[in-house]
Amino acid sequence: MDCLLDFFDIIVEEVIDMLIDTHCHLSKEDYDNIDEVIDNNKKALVNKIVVSGCSKESIKEVMVLKDKYDMVYVTLGFHPEYADIITVNDLNYLRNLLKEKKVVGIGEIGLDYHYTKENKDKQLWLFEEQLKIAYDYNLPVVIHSRDATMDTINILKKYKVRGIIHCFSGSLETANIYIGMGFLLGIGGVVTFKNSKLKDVVKNISLNNIVLETDSPYLTPEPFRGKVNSSKYLVYIAKFIADLKNISVEEIEKITSNNASCLFDFNK
Ligand code: NI
Repeated sequence: MDCLLDFFDIIVEEVIDMLIDTHCHLSKEDYDNIDEVIDNNKKALVNKIVVSGCSKESIKEVMVLKDKYDMVYVTLGFHPEYADIITVNDLNYLRNLLKEKKVVGIGEIGLDYHYTKENKDKQLWLFEEQLKIAYDYNLPVVIHSRDATMDTINILKKYKVRGIIHCFSGSLETANIYIGMGFLLGIGGVVTFKNSKLKDVVKNISLNNIVLETDSPYLTPEPFRGKVNSSKYLVYIAKFIADLKNISVEEIEKITSNNASCLFDFNK
């Protein structure tokens, strides 16, 4: 935290008070003390975090967290890694929670062919069912797509939904396809990694198409790579993008937070 505070001294003259982490996970499994995580987020100029409940267990967990902490909003939806076990009953359970306070989207949902493509049919089914739900409830989606770009694009084209391509790390061409379809790109710690090609992509797309995220506890930005991630590191991602684009952190904060607030209904 000391190092973090030194960093704030450098940028303290800029007015930053509303960083929004548009995608993270917050589970007792990963953090011993969630009160402390929330306190540290506040100190680190983050005032809203959108926590994803993307398994049966984590959905239960995040529904409690959103009621306990002001800054916590949630998206709910089953991650493709659970495609083999999710049933129609589970989807009905999901539907029943969507009208609740501070449930601002569906996600993370999508396709993941990285470890296996064998259950592709099940993944496609689960993804499409949840896109239909998002459409029915008029909620934005948070999309997880790993080694599945073409299928993801083709399926999203079938549904009139808005949302975020979470942890975007594709080419400029792919970025422009998603942007053309009206999606925002979630940019996180990966952009800070030494050999990341995402830097060039981010340089070449408008800030109007970007939201910030940490995907904590994963993908910790430099200079903390290797540690457990949390939303308190979001400002490092903001600063990195500000330097890439040669603009102020304040401007990054204003535009990306506005993008997030236009997508998610934080008054819910
Ligand atoms: Ni995630």
